[in-house]
Amino acid sequence: MSPEFVAHPERLYSGQVEPGLDVVKARRETPGCQNVLHFNNAGAALMPEAVHTALTRHLDLELQLGGYEAAARAERPLNRVYDSLARLVNCSAQEIAVVENATRAWDMAFYALNLGPGDRILTAAAEYASNYIAYLQVARRTGARVEAVPSDETGQISLAALEESIADDVKLIAITHVPTNGGLVNPAAAVGRLARQAGIPFLLDACQSVGQMPIDVEAIGCDMLSATGRKYLRGPRGTGFLYVRKELIQKLEPPFLDLHSAQWVDFENFVIRPDARRFENWESYVAGRAGLAVAVEYALEWGLEAIYARVQALAGELRQKLATIPGLSLHDQGVEQCGIVSFAVADSDHEELMAALGAKAINVSVSPRNYTLLDMQARGLDSLVRASVHYYNDEDEIDRFFAALEDLAG
Ligand SMILES: Cc1ncc(COP(=O)(O)O)c(C=O)c1O
Repeated sequence: MSPEFVAHPERLYSGQVEPGLDVVKARRETPGCQNVLHFNNAGAALMPEAVHTALTRHLDLELQLGGYEAAARAERPLNRVYDSLARLVNCSAQEIAVVENATRAWDMAFYALNLGPGDRILTAAAEYASNYIAYLQVARRTGARVEAVPSDETGQISLAALEESIADDVKLIAITHVPTNGGLVNPAAAVGRLARQAGIPFLLDACQSVGQMPIDVEAIGCDMLSATGRKYLRGPRGTGFLYVRKELIQKLEPPFLDLHSAQWVDFENFVIRPDARRFENWESYVAGRAGLAVAVEYALEWGLEAIYARVQALAGELRQKLATIPGLSLHDQGVEQCGIVSFAVADSDHEELMAALGAKAINVSVSPRNYTLLDMQARGLDSLVRASVHYYNDEDEIDRFFAALEDLAG
């Protein structure tokens, strides 16, 4: 039995935690656990040592051989990233593009769509600011329209309202799976079913769900999916990826092309790559790919089912505890809730609260109103503190976090 359960045997049998996951091993393999209580996994999670080793090994090769030469030497391990990501989301390696972050991945798909006057884009109320800004820009340029489908009484996208909004002029359904704050997991597979029935392309922002829970693009029924490396996948910063369903790839002309995504074949012509790498750049963060491949393989080794079960159990325990602090209000929504715990503290400046926690080596983040403007406005919220847990966090950290917050909020 792991020392955690020896110290607190009630936790093993309470159903509060996932006994199948060796948390002591996970923490041993995460050096940052010794320095900080890290509840900022939805910002950027602590890397496991193996990811750091892969990154630095490649940087060392660059130091010793030169950048191009290092990439040539490591070609096979670097290319592994496509197979690993394909396994992670259940697609083929040809359907994956590796790019610098989730926003650029999402942009490469969105700006490739040929939207015109009167075309409608359906999204959800908790849509992320960068995506919504892109809708507004394209709407301004082309005369397309963006509509946020209302949420249901639980806070997730209303499937009934979505179904009602679907018509021939809807050319895209695009939602965020796990919004930036609010604990919410939008019902992506149900949205995917509606999109498929209507034959409308479905773009899923899975930036905060990948690495936290099992993601299967077939089961979800999305045509495009974007994600980042640094959040729940525990990969390096400056990495991300895009999945595009193979039937769609050749119908989407990327908004930018270069000599990697296309080939200059004669004076007047170029030919775009047939696979999803048409959405990539020639130049990229090569060491980051090595780190991302290891991060994905590391997550697959733990198992995404086991990871999600533990993340949900820890977040549930944290919500229960925080609910007892006077003046603290929880603001998580949805039928299914994930590892993001969002709250407000009355009469407190959230940025100052974050800094005070930081001074105790406790990491959280603050989501300002304009990151999810529609949702925050509808709920009358100005900002939220976001404590996001991962499987390597433990119950002792929840107790310490609770004590620190009780102290600061009181
Ligand atoms: C829902 C959502 N989508 C997209 C992004 C952007 O990801 P990246 O910073 O990797 O571009 C974020 C970042 O917080 C996010 O929360």
